[in-house]
Amino acid sequence: MKKSDFEYILQLLKRYAGWDLSADNYFLVDNKIYNFVCEKGYAGAEDLIQDLRMGQKSMLWQVIEALTLSDTYFFRDYPVFKSFEQLIIPRIREINRQSRKLRIWSLGCSTGQETYSIGMSLADNLIAASDWNIHILGTDISSTAITKAQRGYYTSLEAQMGMNIRRIIEHFHKAGDGWMINNDIADNIKFLRYNLLDDLSNVEPFDIIFCRYVLRYFAPELQRQAIEKIHSYQVPAGFLYLGLHEKIAGLEDFYEPVVGSPCLYQAKLTPSISSNGGQTSNGFMPKLQRPHMKNHPNKKDNQ
Ligand SMILES: C[S@@+](CC[C@H](N)C(=O)[O-])C[C@H]1O[C@@H](n2cnc3c(N)ncnc32)[C@H](O)[C@@H]1O
Repeated sequence: MKKSDFEYILQLLKRYAGWDLSADNYFLVDNKIYNFVCEKGYAGAEDLIQDLRMGQKSMLWQVIEALTLSDTYFFRDYPVFKSFEQLIIPRIREINRQSRKLRIWSLGCSTGQETYSIGMSLADNLIAASDWNIHILGTDISSTAITKAQRGYYTSLEAQMGMNIRRIIEHFHKAGDGWMINNDIADNIKFLRYNLLDDLSNVEPFDIIFCRYVLRYFAPELQRQAIEKIHSYQVPAGFLYLGLHEKIAGLEDFYEPVVGSPCLYQAKLTPSISSNGGQTSNGFMPKLQRPHMKNHPNKKDNQ
């Protein structure tokens, strides 16, 4: 691909998906674009670029789909799920004991493995689902990924990536050569195509947000905007999981790390840089006064 065409693709990716790829990603992009061009029957990358320059939006979104890095597997980074099961679920159980309501967002959920892992963790550790009102939302920019997530069907290989056979048999049923998620897990989960650069309207705030391995490709200024947006979609002092070792611009202005728990952050009640007098940017006013959890809850002074 010509340098100017490559640079044009990078500009589009940044503008429409937030991804800040650099010259280091040339071979990755070139390779994926080459496959895309062959699949779509273009004579060469120049013809595709010409369509894009003419403003063909549907082709643009297909290019974004083709370039999506959607690697995922069940219970990715198991220590994170251990912290979720042992630390956060009991905590939420206590905090929300009156409302018996729990809202979780798996943002950038790819093909749904993260979202269903959350559902299984809750089923195994929380509460009788019938007793609680549980809403789990899985969203991703890729509609192909969301379609697969909605189906809830995984090949044996995909199911075995992150789950032992006991867990598979407990929460899935055999369907052809693969496994289909059981309804008791799927019933609490909704999937939606959503681009983090857009606004999500009419949504109630979330107690816990998982946004793992999504923001690492974002430009720093877009990471900052995304973190502010994510914060605005959380209940006061709600929890955010990022991917392991993810360093996100602006994170410390809106969240504090939860000591002893990998990749876990708690929303600050008052962000360090607040331009709107304490009201979150999507208009949610803080409702709950939640105890902050700077230390591990096993420590007595934090109970
Ligand atoms: C590497 S996958 C991670 C999946 C899952 N969170 C996990 O940790 O296993 C990153 C996902 O983020 C999604 N993504 C990237 N940019 C996005 C955006 N602007 N809005 C929403 N989702 C996005 C990608 O489509 C991809 O499925």
